[in-house]
Amino acid sequence: MELYTERLCLRPWREEDAEALYPLARDPDVGPPAGWMPHTSVENSRQIIRTVLSAPTVFAVCKREDGMPIGSIGLHKNDLACHDDEYELGYWIGKPYWGQGMIPEASLEVLRYAFEDLGMARIWCGHYDGNVKSRRVQEKLGFVFHHTTEGIEITELNQIRTGHVMLMTRERWEELCWCKYLGRCIDKGMCYDMQMIAMDCIKPSALTEIDIDKVLLNEVCKCCPNKIG
Ligand SMILES: CC(C)(COP(=O)(O)OP(=O)(O)OC[C@H]1O[C@@H](n2cnc3c(N)ncnc32)[C@H](O)[C@@H]1OP(=O)(O)O)[C@@H](O)C(=O)NCCC(=O)NCCS
Repeated sequence: MELYTERLCLRPWREEDAEALYPLARDPDVGPPAGWMPHTSVENSRQIIRTVLSAPTVFAVCKREDGMPIGSIGLHKNDLACHDDEYELGYWIGKPYWGQGMIPEASLEVLRYAFEDLGMARIWCGHYDGNVKSRRVQEKLGFVFHHTTEGIEITELNQIRTGHVMLMTRERWEELCWCKYLGRCIDKGMCYDMQMIAMDCIKPSALTEIDIDKVLLNEVCKCCPNKIG
């Protein structure tokens, strides 16, 4: 199974990816914030591809231009997502690719896949206390805070952490769309208002909470897949 976005291809991990995986996954700023140990060698990366990343709903996040893996994204069953109609979303991306919106882009497609193709009702997503980058990703995608759990034991790292759990229901997903102008999900009503502003049908002051550059907004809205008519 392969999924595509504007810049990315999401495809199953292969053992041959170990050479590309290791330099990204040995970085101590990548695994530990997500709760796993940095990889220790190419062979260790290969073993993790075989034992962890080869699960059917885990995808290598690859650049479309050259097919090279730059991160990973997956839907997981666990204590949090224990019913048939739910999964937990997990992700990471190599440090050279941080801040380019790659994981939000990959996540949007994986959420679409989960709700539309797999018929899921709920997708959970969590981040440990202090992981502001991951929290931002979840906020931008439109996840809603659900609960906090204290005293989570991470045996692999010999740590106890606090985790925050966010939820996306199918109903909420159906209400949202990605706004390229704002770089986050917004509800479809707001998307409509923004398009009306772009087309000069309503005044920018109708949306008091955001700053609008009408020329730029118009450019973005013209090429948007959510464009009306
Ligand atoms: C969390 C993570 C997946 C985000 O992926 P991404 O593709 O960089 O996501 P975005 O580009 O949307 O950036 C998210 C936020 O990270 C922060 N950020 C971006 N680039 C950064 C950088 N170079 N250094 C520090 N923070 C940065 C920004 O706050 C950004 O939010 P903003 O868009 O509102 O400014 C990535 O940072 C990562 O893999 N971290 C380590 C593993 C991890 O924490 N996984 C999640 C476990 S729950």
